[in-house]
Amino acid sequence: MGFSLRALLFSLVTAVPAMSLGGCAREGPLYRDPRAPLEERVEDLLSRMTLAEKIGQILQINVTRLMGHTPWDRGPLNEVWLRRIIGEAGVGSILSGGGAAPPGRRPRDWANMINTIQEFARQNTRLGIPVLYGLDAVHGHNNVLGATLFPHNLGLSTSWNPKLVERVAAATAQDMKATGIPWNFAPVCDLARDPRWGRFYETFGEDPLLAGDLAAAFVRGLQSQGVAATAKHFVGYSQPLTGFDRQPAELSPRSLYLYHLPPFAAALGAGAKTVMANSGSVNGVPVHASPYLLSAVLRNHLGFQGLVVSDWEDVRRLHTVYGVAASYKEAIALAINAGVDMVMEPFHAEEFVRLLRELVQEGKVSEARINEAVRRILRLKFALGLFDDLAPIDSERAEAQVVGGHRELAKEAARESIVLLKNDGLLPFPPGLKSLAVIGPAADSVPMLMGGWTIDWQGAPSTELPPAVTILEGLRTLAPTVELRYARGLPAKAELLPEHLVRREIERAAEMARGTQAAVVAVGEEPYAEGAGDRENLELDRYQVELIQAIASANPNTVVILVAGRPLIIESFLDKIRAFLMAHLPGAEGGTALAEILFGHYNPSARLTYSWPRSMGQIPLFYNILRTGRYEPRYPFGYGLSYAVFKYEKLELPRGASLGEPLRLRVALRNTSEQPGWEVVQVYASPLFPPVLAPRESLVAYQRVYLAPGEQRWVELEVRPHALALIPGDVFEIGEPRLFPGRYKLRVGSLEAFFSWE
Ligand code: BGC
Ligand code: BGC
Repeated sequence: MGFSLRALLFSLVTAVPAMSLGGCAREGPLYRDPRAPLEERVEDLLSRMTLAEKIGQILQINVTRLMGHTPWDRGPLNEVWLRRIIGEAGVGSILSGGGAAPPGRRPRDWANMINTIQEFARQNTRLGIPVLYGLDAVHGHNNVLGATLFPHNLGLSTSWNPKLVERVAAATAQDMKATGIPWNFAPVCDLARDPRWGRFYETFGEDPLLAGDLAAAFVRGLQSQGVAATAKHFVGYSQPLTGFDRQPAELSPRSLYLYHLPPFAAALGAGAKTVMANSGSVNGVPVHASPYLLSAVLRNHLGFQGLVVSDWEDVRRLHTVYGVAASYKEAIALAINAGVDMVMEPFHAEEFVRLLRELVQEGKVSEARINEAVRRILRLKFALGLFDDLAPIDSERAEAQVVGGHRELAKEAARESIVLLKNDGLLPFPPGLKSLAVIGPAADSVPMLMGGWTIDWQGAPSTELPPAVTILEGLRTLAPTVELRYARGLPAKAELLPEHLVRREIERAAEMARGTQAAVVAVGEEPYAEGAGDRENLELDRYQVELIQAIASANPNTVVILVAGRPLIIESFLDKIRAFLMAHLPGAEGGTALAEILFGHYNPSARLTYSWPRSMGQIPLFYNILRTGRYEPRYPFGYGLSYAVFKYEKLELPRGASLGEPLRLRVALRNTSEQPGWEVVQVYASPLFPPVLAPRESLVAYQRVYLAPGEQRWVELEVRPHALALIPGDVFEIGEPRLFPGRYKLRVGSLEAFFSWE
């Protein structure tokens, strides 16, 4: 930019004509008065807006469009684009798609960028409406360099700890607020139903009750700090028929109501202010064009009153990809009339504004519908305080607050998100351990611990790494007296090299491991996001398997740590190793937490929230498949080991209750070991003779419990009735979800009992 933006803004401020007072005796228009009731402010502002201004509010543009010299290059904000996009097209919302960041990417760079955008919007639009800035802060403020990043949702979910998730979300929101960003495209409320899907790790697992609790906790955490949450991607996104992102989904209404809607209902119940539509199609209808899903189900059935935002370019895709609209213009009409209030049209502001204006003039989109959408948008802007908090963000404070914050919380979250899946007595390592080989591509890698949506969309570039402790570093710090020998074991991009070179490196690592008391091999997946992470084959990469096999035959005390966004097929090496840990994508303190677990400073407490397949042929695989469905996983939903040994001794519950009444039960649980530890008590139930098939069993209650060595305790839990609702009706008919009277079987651990609901 060859001029000073600030100087220019200043000259513009003085040029803005005094606003009409509308006959009112106030200092300014009513909508500017922070003491006026929110609805009155909305109506006042709406009544002053032209159609063009309203259309601008409906539009959301990617921030890269305001940067650099061409629409595509990145760089500092460019006054020319600000003027065209915010000043002239009147665009009301800006997003950062994954990785779209100001140059430098530091908290202060973000704060400065947001300040410039807000100041520009206030000064250079007729009504001074602030911009609503949104982005994906899905495991901490992950686009910001220096921010502390947490485990991705899948790992978090294995904590079975809504309080923890709420604190992680609140910490994320504090960092967002520090940089001036009030809207998070999170949490994902989609269920983990198919690990081929590249977004499996963004979910809270496969169970509707648990995923709903955690999504609701995430919403509360964000919104307690004044950041709006987004329940996404509404709905049916996570189970495309082929397993691949944005491929057609075929979902019976029964499975929609039974499995996919409950987590959304929970997030909305917690007050989520916005919803993002599913990019995919369900039963032959792209969701962005579905009044049934976006209006009948979302508004009427779930009672949602907030704002529906489209996903990335998805309105245009109704034309270009789905072909259900003959032009972009027709696509816009379809989506807005179906219930999309704000359109994430990353690039083409002017075109969108022109087309929507024509549609209104031609009567194809009513002004009433435009007003309804704009009301929802303005309501959110007022509720977030955007009209009232006028002081610019202090960029040095942002820097100081965000960098290095929340490390203890990140550690706690990482500890609780690592599942011990196999241990034949090797772990924890004895305090006297003298030497340890640390091997594998994930052993000293920050990007792998972080996964996708980290600094950049597809994962952290090697030149811009977020602060993190790798596994090797974690071990060095925790066990300074142990002789650690490290080898990556595989060259980078092994698949591109001649085999003999790869083998040589594997052999060297094995040689090294031969001389140590034990070996840790950390393997896994390189980062990915969205469709780039779709996989036809979930076998662990063949060279990593070879590496494990070579190390395991060189050293009988081999532990494998898997750093991955989903379960991989591990049959080819599982019986050759003595211990196996699933680390998920544990974030900044992953290395610390893994070291603590290996050496027994933390007793693993996480339990799977998804089913671990034995083979590709089993996929999709989930524990709550309808009765008669086969379920023979490698590790079932809910599985996970501890260094402690817990015994379920007794189960007590009333014989019956009236239908829908929450049922209280007690379980006697004992820690029969010398180790203190956390157990996750899980209660499952199913009706004996329902009129339609029920899930094999459903999670109806759970609780994390801490037991000292030898301690016995009665744990009280409450069966949550809605987790047992079924959808009545014949094959193509469908009723409302409801509970059926009759006998139910209940299971906790290996204890079983029956109760009746009459
Ligand atoms: C993803 C959304 C995300 C949006 C903005 C889309 O491609 O599906 O989850 O919020 O991009 O980054
Ligand atoms: C953006 C992502 C977005 C994706 C959609 C990317 O260029 O950075 O945020 O989700 O496109 O395909």
